[in-house]
Amino acid sequence: MAKVVVTARFPPIAAGWARWLPGHTIVGAIDGPEARWPRERWRAELADADALICLLSDRIDDAVLADAPTLRVVANFAVGVDNIDVAVAHARGVAIANTPDVLTEATADFAILLLLAAARRLGEGEALIRRGAWDGWAPDLLLGTELGSLGIIGLGRIGRAVARRAQAFGMRVVAADHRGAGAGDDGIARVPLDALWGEVDAISLHCPLTPATRGLVDRAALARMRPGAILVNTARGAVIDDDAVADALERGHLGGAGLDVFTHEPAIAPRLLAAPRTVLAPHLGSATTTARVRMAELCMTAVREVLAGRRPANLYAPREDHA
Ligand code: GLV
Repeated sequence: MAKVVVTARFPPIAAGWARWLPGHTIVGAIDGPEARWPRERWRAELADADALICLLSDRIDDAVLADAPTLRVVANFAVGVDNIDVAVAHARGVAIANTPDVLTEATADFAILLLLAAARRLGEGEALIRRGAWDGWAPDLLLGTELGSLGIIGLGRIGRAVARRAQAFGMRVVAADHRGAGAGDDGIARVPLDALWGEVDAISLHCPLTPATRGLVDRAALARMRPGAILVNTARGAVIDDDAVADALERGHLGGAGLDVFTHEPAIAPRLLAAPRTVLAPHLGSATTTARVRMAELCMTAVREVLAGRRPANLYAPREDHA
């Protein structure tokens, strides 16, 4: 009987997991009580496992794969696969699956939520009320920014879904495109990344974390952003340089930031925690019940299909990044 290791607890509503994998032995945190199994514990179970379902916080590198000689598939409970050494896995004959599409709308909603919350200073307003310091309506209380344009870095599924929402809000949408300038029939203008920074009132990041995108939002990029611009990150924390972003917020060069992802989650750089006009969320982009249940289903079906010798639709194949 095939053995499937699951490193974390699934959403309660997906607890009927067995129906997706009849005839498999499932070992791990899947139905609680712990939210996650410690790394050493699930690693030990991989010695004779056929499949692994893991989180974006589980690093799957050569050492893990070397200790898992019978492993045939890793299903990542996430669309981003930067936690997995995909090339090494493929070289070892291990298939990788992820959870595209099902989280697109939820994540795009969350990016817009952070964009508006940062631009309109919702976090500061809520904090003001909660500490009992609001003394009434005032013409100059927590004035925010109106957004006429949004730049998208990473015009993939989520980037496009964010673009559609921004267009519905009346924003001009411009996306970074390495092929140069132009206009798509989707109403999204394309410019090279170099030209994007200063072209828009806000930038939202939707690129995968790759060697090319690590630290992409650095001092030089921030310096080119419009004074008062808003930065939103629902991609991966390491796409931004934490210190450079904290500096830009402290100096007031950035008008605000909405951050859902962090370089060393769950730790957050203290300067970002303290930075003004910053809305922080604990990596909630795909956190709707609908999306998470569908992500669980995709992981399960990928495991079932690969172990049955079939090719699941959500098999991950590396492609060029969107930066
Ligand atoms: C979440 O960040 C994901 O990659 O699904």
